[in-house]
Amino acid sequence: MSRLNKLDNNIAIVTAAGQGLGESIAKTFAKEGAIVILVDINQQELLRVREDIIESGGKAALVTADLTKSDQVNDMVNGVIKDYKKVDILINGAGGFQSFSPINEITDSEWDDVISLNLNSAFYCSRAVSSIMIENKKGRIISLSSGAGIAPNPYAPSYIPYGAAKAGLIGMTKLMARDIGQYGITVNVIAPGTALTPRVRRIRDQESLDNIASMNPMRNLIEPRDCAEAALFLASDEARYITGITLMVNAGNLIL
Ligand SMILES: NC(=O)c1ccc[n+]([C@@H]2O[C@H](COP(=O)([O-])OP(=O)(O)OC[C@H]3O[C@@H](n4cnc5c(N)ncnc54)[C@H](O)[C@@H]3O)[C@@H](O)[C@H]2O)c1
Repeated sequence: MSRLNKLDNNIAIVTAAGQGLGESIAKTFAKEGAIVILVDINQQELLRVREDIIESGGKAALVTADLTKSDQVNDMVNGVIKDYKKVDILINGAGGFQSFSPINEITDSEWDDVISLNLNSAFYCSRAVSSIMIENKKGRIISLSSGAGIAPNPYAPSYIPYGAAKAGLIGMTKLMARDIGQYGITVNVIAPGTALTPRVRRIRDQESLDNIASMNPMRNLIEPRDCAEAALFLASDEARYITGITLMVNAGNLIL
């Protein structure tokens, strides 16, 4: 099933692999020869994704975990290290939000939940893999931020806690890249534009989606596979000296 075996024998932890962008990244990495550790809170979806990968000749294991809980993240990563002795790639995919409440209606718990899912989870996972990556003098950490972490979407409503968390992820990435680059570890962010994943179908109405697609310079929404190919590039040897960047995959939705 492999295409160029770009990730042969790499151990890749992919969080939020149960659906959407994480699923697409996990499947793309498996096609390139990685052993993919699928992590998500939704075990049923993880089982489906693992089955798809194995049926296509790839290798995958799964761990069910709530990534907003640091003890569950540590257990997940320690289990991977025990089984495989290394972690080559971490994809921080967990994130999202459920509403577009204006600032004067955002509760403390809503704020905390969104920061926790989109930012804390990536910190917990990055911290947990960092020691083994430093020891092995090799690693790739790639987080899914969002255009919302760079600027409000020009063509549709935005959500403040989400944009704040995703901007935090970009800042954290730059600092980590500087800190651990000396160990051969690259740390980067992908900032996707709107892609039709199950969550996006739920939160954005058709008018909003049509609006974004028609206003994008390329007159279309991106697809999950576009992010997967960007992640593959950043994870590959070809990108060995690319670190601290934000790679926008957005059909021109934001041009800086
Ligand atoms: N889809 C887009 O348009 C888009 C745009 C920009 C950024 N992003 C970012 O990309 C990432 C993936 O987005 P998506 O649209 O594929 O999301 P999605 O909601 O379709 O999938 C997210 C997955 O995360 C899992 N998850 C949720 N909470 C969890 C937790 N506490 N612990 C472990 N797993 C948990 C869910 O079960 C689900 O399988 C997110 O970080 C999102 O913010 C997406």
